[in-house]
Amino acid sequence: MTPNDSSVLHRVIQVTPPMAVSGQGITLTDANGKVYLDASGGAAVSCLGHGHPDVLAAMHAQIDRLAYAHTGFFTTQVAEDLAAMLIRGAPAGIAKAFFVSGGSEAMEAALKMARQYFVEIGQPSRTRFIARRQSYHGNTLGALAIGGNQWRRAPFAPLLVDATHVSPCYPYREQQAGETPEQYGLRLADELDRTIQACGPETVIGFVAETVGGATAGVLTPVPGYFRAVKAVCDKHGVLLILDEVMCGMGRCGTLHACEQEGVVPDLLAIAKGLGGGYQPVGALLAHERLVRAMSAGSGFFQHGHTYLGHAVACAAALAVQQVIERDGLLAQVRSRGAHLAALCGQAFADHPHVGEVRGRGLFHGIELVKDRGTKAPFDPALRLHARIKAEAMARGLLVYPMGGTVDGRQGDHVVLAPPFIATEAELATIVERLAASIDAAIRSC
Ligand SMILES: Cc1ncc(COP(=O)(O)O)c(C=O)c1O
Repeated sequence: MTPNDSSVLHRVIQVTPPMAVSGQGITLTDANGKVYLDASGGAAVSCLGHGHPDVLAAMHAQIDRLAYAHTGFFTTQVAEDLAAMLIRGAPAGIAKAFFVSGGSEAMEAALKMARQYFVEIGQPSRTRFIARRQSYHGNTLGALAIGGNQWRRAPFAPLLVDATHVSPCYPYREQQAGETPEQYGLRLADELDRTIQACGPETVIGFVAETVGGATAGVLTPVPGYFRAVKAVCDKHGVLLILDEVMCGMGRCGTLHACEQEGVVPDLLAIAKGLGGGYQPVGALLAHERLVRAMSAGSGFFQHGHTYLGHAVACAAALAVQQVIERDGLLAQVRSRGAHLAALCGQAFADHPHVGEVRGRGLFHGIELVKDRGTKAPFDPALRLHARIKAEAMARGLLVYPMGGTVDGRQGDHVVLAPPFIATEAELATIVERLAASIDAAIRSC
């Protein structure tokens, strides 16, 4: 199909992508019959791969029973069951789930609930969010305002609420020589402390962070102790900790929530992608009981909502996905297959002249590309190395998630790997083999 035959406004307007016609297991097939190994689940979405029979059966059954009932009038059993399961699996103190249709909506709900909390408890002077440079929290105006990716923000800057940004936790580039990871984490927490004080603690609502940074910086894993130190700073100033696990959560890093590995309980936790595994558009905001209690005892309601909140088919898909993960012990599998993937990436890229770092957790890995390993200098952004890698990978029947702007929103290239939890060791080996060939071909073409 050419651009002129398509009435869809595609992401790149002059490029009509191949037409996907079916999906099974870890593969997608296009209209020409070409089969792709899906090593990124789009953007870390398809945690159970495609066409999972148990998820499809649950969705069919729900559609036959009830597709939609507005949450202003009804609850549904499937939303209740999903919420109960999520709260059972959530960090202690998380009390309620608010269902939305995706990650940006989950973050919008987080920002509004955080603000409403302070209005409810008589601290209306708190109006500011602090987040991190190089973060991504979604594309709606509130989420974009909080996000720290300069390229995404720039055209819309006049429309965005003013947010303050501190350093990301990016040891490869920003941990100083002679500094241990722990010292680096404490330095970052100290930066947050000083920033809150400079803003005036009475003006700050919350600190927003991806527990493991995802798309825009290529899987940034926090150094040990970083989040504990950050939480202590937030507590000291009465500032909420809002964790965005839209990409890194729901098992992707080997535990249901990535923050479990950091030993912190956030006040608000946003989840999406792996919640429904792509079978339906669904996300959720998980709220600490402190916030729920304040709203309940105050105005009595959360002043927010959308038409499709808690959509019954979306909840059915998410419930089935989460039940399969639990039943099949897939969190343990993410940890073991993740270790295998890390080893494969190590073999393929440890001595690669243009791979600066391979990092990640579970089945969530980032490969940062550099022109020069010694200086860590990135490739010229005009080369669009990330786009070349994506094209070379697709030509080889491989779907990965490369992106540019790793370093500062403009410079740098990385590739994210986020294969389905069901990928076999043999499939992971093929993924890494094809990726290595794609990276080499892309660099040769520069
Ligand atoms: C960390 C994070 N937050 C929020 C979002 C936005 O989610 P959505 O695209 O579903 O609106 C994303 C999407 O990539 C993300 O990675």
